[in-house]
Order: sequence, then structure tokens, then C-alpha cells
Amino acid sequence: MTQRVGILGWPVAHSRSPLIHKYWLDSHGLDGEYLRLAVSPEEDFNTVVRGLAEQGWLGANVTVPHKEVALAISDEASPQAQRLGAANILQFKDGKVYADNSDGYGFIASLEEAISNLDWIHQPALILGAGGAARAIVGALVDRGMPHIYVTNRSRARAQMLAENFATPTTRIDVLDWAARQTQMAACGLVVNTTSLGMVGQPPLELALESFTGCVVDIVYAPLETALLTEARLRGLISVDGLGMLLHQAVPAFEAWFGVRPSVTRELRHKLIEDLGA
Ligand code: ATR
Repeated sequence: MTQRVGILGWPVAHSRSPLIHKYWLDSHGLDGEYLRLAVSPEEDFNTVVRGLAEQGWLGANVTVPHKEVALAISDEASPQAQRLGAANILQFKDGKVYADNSDGYGFIASLEEAISNLDWIHQPALILGAGGAARAIVGALVDRGMPHIYVTNRSRARAQMLAENFATPTTRIDVLDWAARQTQMAACGLVVNTTSLGMVGQPPLELALESFTGCVVDIVYAPLETALLTEARLRGLISVDGLGMLLHQAVPAFEAWFGVRPSVTRELRHKLIEDLGA
């Protein structure tokens, strides 16, 4: 019997997850199907999810705007999903709905793919933005034991809230004014853009890299090389684009549903780049 999974979101047509999971289904010779399901904000998300579980779906990915409600309607949730208040993976098993969040995992895995030496963890990180992606990334860095993180966001209150929620006795989180985002860069080993600035159709991100010697990450992947990453490349800095996080966050979902841990291969990355360009 064909095993069914998919992605629930609104809009969902742009999602690249079907391509990623289809590649893994094919490479593992599994009889499965990954569908896009547009679920409007007016629909009752719980009813939709329970219906899919009854139809025999193994689970689903969840994207905007349903990540919070996905956690709320679940029967059990991983510590990551609980802490972030949002789920991007649902698994249906034994009549129950399990929620997980792999965004932080995806970020760390893509970073580790680019930097083999783990010294970056000892220097502070500068995180731009304080939305859902920033929360996942800060949570993952805290779990990794990073001692010091700076967060800056256009609305300072949101950054303040993030800092209060995620700081621990071993990780200090300082908030910087958006206008002061340059001030601490020289002391940082990692800078991460989690805002939508630099994305197609959005204003550019204004951030000068001349005093910076660390690693630059931009989670935006349209365009794949943002102006920030072009500058990083020209300066010879290690840079990580947004495809890595997108690819790696899919690994735990596939493994939960199909019981096989898939690999993020060069071939898969190339397929995705081709698809984004099309
Ligand atoms: P996500 O869940 O993908 O992180 P989000 O919650 O919409 O998305 O967050 C978008 C981030 O981009 C926020 O940090 C947002 O800043 P605000 O919290 O002040 O809204 C940031 N952002 C979006 N447009 C921006 C702009 N023109 N200038 C600065 N920051 C911007």
C-alpha cells in the first residue's frame, strides 16, 4: 500500500518539501507519496489532521500559518516543539498525533556541514531577527552550549522576549538595538540573518562585513546567494545559504515516518537549486 505523507500550509504551492521527500522515497525504493495540502486559516486544523490520520497518513509537515496550532492540537510533543511553541512535523501513530520541531536541528546540521571545526561555539553569535526561525536557531545554539548570543530585531520588544525565554545559566543573551547591530560584530564568530531582508521583493539587509572574520549564515534561499552572502564570499569568509537548513530540517521527518534516516546528498542539493531556478 502506498504510504502517504505531505505538507499542510497556506499557501503551500511554493513548498520544496515534496521534491526533497520524493527524492528520498525514490532513493530508498519506498512506496510512498508526499502531497501538498492547502489548508486555509479558516479551516479547523484539528479536524483536517484527525481526518488525515484516519485515512492512514503516516504524518505531515506543517508550515505557515499552522505551526502553532499544530502543536496545540497534538497529543504529545517533543521538548523542542514545546519550547518553540510550534511544530513543523506531525506523526500519526497508535491513534495519537505526535508533534516535533526540527528547524533548530536543521540549522545546526547545515552549519556543521560548512564548518568542520567546532571552535565557533566559543565565540558569541549575532542573530538578526526574532521571529519563529530566530527562536529555533537561538534554542539550538543554547542547546549546543554557546555561552553568549546577541539578538537584534527591528522591534526590540520581540528580541527582549526571545532573550528572556531562552537565556539559561550557561548562555547569556544580550539584546542590541537594530540600529546598533554593527557594534558587536567584530567580537562574534557567527552572524545569522533570520529576517526576510534580502529576500526577493524585500529591501536589502544593510550589514557591513569589513570588521568580521567569522561565518555568515543567511536562511533566505530566494535568491540563493543574497547580497550578504556575496559579500561574505568576496571577503573569503565561510558562508552558509538557506538551502542547508531547508534540506536538513527534512531529515528527522522522513526518519520518523519511514524509519530510515535519509542523507542530504550533493545530488539532492543540485536538484533543489535547479528547481528553484526553474
Ligand atoms: P519567521 O517565522 O520566518 O522568522 P517572522 O516571524 O515573520 O518570520 O519574522 C520575520 C523577521 O524579519 C522579524 O524579525 C522581522 O522583524 P519584526 O519582528 O520587527 O517584524 C524581520 N523583518 C521583516 N521585515 C523587516 C524590515 N523591513 N526591517 C527589519 N526587519 C524586518
